[in-house]
Amino acid sequence: MKTLTHAQNLIANSLNIVAFTGAGLSAESGISTFRGSKDSEWSRFDPMRLASQQGFSEDPETVIRWYNDRRRQLSTATPNPAHIALADQGIFTITQNVDNLLERAGCQPEHIVHLHGEINADRCNNSQCDFYEAVTLDKPPPLRRCPQCQSSYCRPSVVWFGEPLPQTAWAIAEQKVLTCDCLLVVGTSATVYPAASLIELAANRNARVIVIDPAPKALEDKADILLTGAAASLLPRLLETKRI
Ligand code: OAD
Repeated sequence: MKTLTHAQNLIANSLNIVAFTGAGLSAESGISTFRGSKDSEWSRFDPMRLASQQGFSEDPETVIRWYNDRRRQLSTATPNPAHIALADQGIFTITQNVDNLLERAGCQPEHIVHLHGEINADRCNNSQCDFYEAVTLDKPPPLRRCPQCQSSYCRPSVVWFGEPLPQTAWAIAEQKVLTCDCLLVVGTSATVYPAASLIELAANRNARVIVIDPAPKALEDKADILLTGAAASLLPRLLETKRI
């Protein structure tokens, strides 16, 4: 595969590689993506009902039930070779994923930022209350009032449509992208902003952009090198050539 060799050479000659990942990274761990196939979450469900403040205020039970199904799905999932390759090579990873599969693959906390929060914790839906608690993925709590303020419901500690990204995570992500010479974009439709703008930020600074995705669509014109295929098979082969 000529393109893979080309990408391997680029990796071997890069001094500062950063990864930007999306749901496709965890697809081969059995976690369904949001877009891209008829089984994807947002092909089957309305994202505004399940992942927005308005949806939560209209029907909190349904929202929590859906997140708890995702949590239980994640509790039985295991990291795939793509997570393991990123962790083993110590590649700094900016992820849109709310799962903890990179951490479970051995990724160090200082090598990862979660732009869209993390599903394995609850927080209070009232932004004035600082309640935050890790939850057990296989036995997640049902809809409950915040034990601290009692006034609002608890919700998963993730970012919903219309909500700002966590400030510190975003600042770190921008700084990492501004200083990388190669951005590895893995398994994202790059349709959700501002996260997706990181790809343009890297490209505008002349960092090389390598995309891994079986159906890259929106990214075809943004990639210097397009590797069409599954992350679990391509990413470990690509990173074999990285300098340690
Ligand atoms: P999407 O579901 O939008 O896109 C997943 C991408 O992964 C698609 O381009 C697929 O072609 C690709 N893909 C599928 N299988 C793959 C595989 N085995 N290897 C590599 N790629 C594969 O996911 P995101 O771009 O992450 O928001 O979605 C962005 C945000 O939209 C998510 O973070 C989520 C969602 O609403 C929040 O949770 C806040």
